Amino acid sequence: MSGQPAEEQSEKKDRRKVTILTVQKKKESRKPITMLTAYDYSSALLVDEAGIDMILVGDSLAMVMLGMDSTVSLTMEEMLHHCRAVARGAKHSFLVGDMPFMSYQADTAEAVRNAGRFLKEGSMEAVKLEGGEEMTETIVAIVRAGIPVMGHIGLTPQSISKLGGYRVQGKTAADATRLLKDALALEQAGCFSIVLEAIPAAVAAVITEKLHIPAIGIGAGADCDGQVLVYHDLLGLFDRFTPSFVRRYADGRQVILQALIDFSEEVTDGRFPAEEHTYPIDENELQAFMKKA
Ligand code: KIV
Repeated sequence: MSGQPAEEQSEKKDRRKVTILTVQKKKESRKPITMLTAYDYSSALLVDEAGIDMILVGDSLAMVMLGMDSTVSLTMEEMLHHCRAVARGAKHSFLVGDMPFMSYQADTAEAVRNAGRFLKEGSMEAVKLEGGEEMTETIVAIVRAGIPVMGHIGLTPQSISKLGGYRVQGKTAADATRLLKDALALEQAGCFSIVLEAIPAAVAAVITEKLHIPAIGIGAGADCDGQVLVYHDLLGLFDRFTPSFVRRYADGRQVILQALIDFSEEVTDGRFPAEEHTYPIDENELQAFMKKA
């Protein structure tokens, strides 16, 4: 039995599956869209239960889950493994799988096949890929295959070597104009939504306003149609590097670390397990056993 009031319980039960139509309607009625990353079953259960509209199985998992230095080495197989786990946990949120570096850049047919694997083998409902105008042919082909595509412009971590580091994009009039052109080209190619990452808020606001599809910001200010954060950043689970645009909603690392230390100390000094953590045995059975032991 849950301690929640009945209305809240039935609201939860009645919660509808989020689709691309849901997020499009939110854009049109100016209701903010929420998106978070998740990488496994238990985080997906929580994000879904929190009522988040979209879950992105982001390639950021390379860094926060697998300890890699960047996202470039991540493989299709690694992504699909995590996508399947997330899909088992999320029943309502719309599921987007991030196409890893070199799974879509070299060849359009290969990009379509790999996008298809996200749906067939990863149980995702859409894919995300990075890049602007240069990606439109690929996006058209994936969308033509019946797969919704989310674009991603601004700071695109898969091109980190080309960008010269994790830095804000669109800070000059020329760069901002190029980003707007890219966003409109992605919309024209058939994207259902676009992530705007690390872009000055005023530039992101103009791009959002010009687009008919939802713009989901990360480090792009409050005027985007929605916001996305990395699960580990929001919960304060990853302290190797935290971008300045992140708000930490919990100091999860400290909470978990303290629990682990408590466990270690209690086992060491004999406080765990206690009586309530052990299985009893009938006294006669125990005596009979002891005689034979
Ligand atoms: O991989 C990821 O987590 C992302 C988000 C930061 C948008 O691409």
